[in-house]
Amino acid sequence: MRKPTTGRDVAIVTGASHGIGPHIARALAADGMAVVLTGRSVTQLEALSEELRALGTPATAVPADLTRGEGPARVWAGAVQAFGHVDVIVNNAGGDPIREFDQMSWDENHAILALNLLAPVELTRLALPHMLARGRGHIVNISSLAGRMGFPFTEAYASAKDGLIAFTRVIRFDYRDRGVSSSALVLGVIRGAGQSQRMSDEAGLPVPSLSVPAEVVGRAVVRAIRRDVAEVVVMPGPGRLVKAVMDLFPAFGPWMNRRSGATATLRRVMERRRAPARRGRDAPTTGS
Ligand SMILES: NC(=O)c1ccc[n+]([C@@H]2O[C@H](COP(=O)([O-])OP(=O)(O)OC[C@H]3O[C@@H](n4cnc5c(N)ncnc54)[C@H](OP(=O)(O)O)[C@@H]3O)[C@@H](O)[C@H]2O)c1
Repeated sequence: MRKPTTGRDVAIVTGASHGIGPHIARALAADGMAVVLTGRSVTQLEALSEELRALGTPATAVPADLTRGEGPARVWAGAVQAFGHVDVIVNNAGGDPIREFDQMSWDENHAILALNLLAPVELTRLALPHMLARGRGHIVNISSLAGRMGFPFTEAYASAKDGLIAFTRVIRFDYRDRGVSSSALVLGVIRGAGQSQRMSDEAGLPVPSLSVPAEVVGRAVVRAIRRDVAEVVVMPGPGRLVKAVMDLFPAFGPWMNRRSGATATLRRVMERRRAPARRGRDAPTTGS
């Protein structure tokens, strides 16, 4: 989607309160877009909104819990109320508790699927009539190599993230000739901010060597929108080729996980999180 000749594009960024999301919001603002920031952490959203406004970017915070039925509708209504139109949605909010799958309940798996898959589907569904009427729109879905890499203890998360890639492709083919396109960003391990960095810190282990700084994701989102790229694999080296090799050789991802240190980190995180849960204390619900 090219830049408008007059005015600004307006972008909704989910998961904008911490992690990779603020990097995406800053990159969109630097590209000239107005931004609608959402997540549950009101203070962080307001702080980022203020930071961007001080730099001349129109920005507003619309807090919402995207695992709740009314969450996506609240975000959509807040964005339209603030700016009158929306051109871009970056479905970035996501996360996983890193638990053994055989220990998980229906509700826990449902929450993971709601956050990582259903919320992007619903936000897109809400936006489509508006975007089609204007003949202009781009949906960016932040997915993961989780399904291809076979990261341990991420069964529901991996299925949601692979589902998001399929969703992106079909939306793209169904609506692109009417002005609304879609891109999937398939992230490998990201360092400097976000869940991988937090898990490495929690495990007391270094971030896996095959990782990419969080700022790169922001720039990749802008490129995907402006050049209308179907799929970007964000990892060191020839990402799309590596992803294709993982499809051809399903044992390759787990082998890379062991070599890069991802398996050790995830196992240590799973064990640390399992311990307090067994003693009856709260376990983390998403993300870290
Ligand atoms: N970091 C990586 O290495 C990596 C790798 C592959 C893919 N990804 C993907 O990249 C995206 C961003 O991940 P991240 O690493 O930045 O994760 P993160 O640091 O855990 O941040 C997650 C974001 O999602 C929001 N969020 C979580 N639960 C929510 C809920 N119920 N309702 C609304 N918002 C919610 C959080 O905000 P609140 O807590 O304020 O709600 C936060 O802004 C995710 O889709 C993730 O799957 C990340």
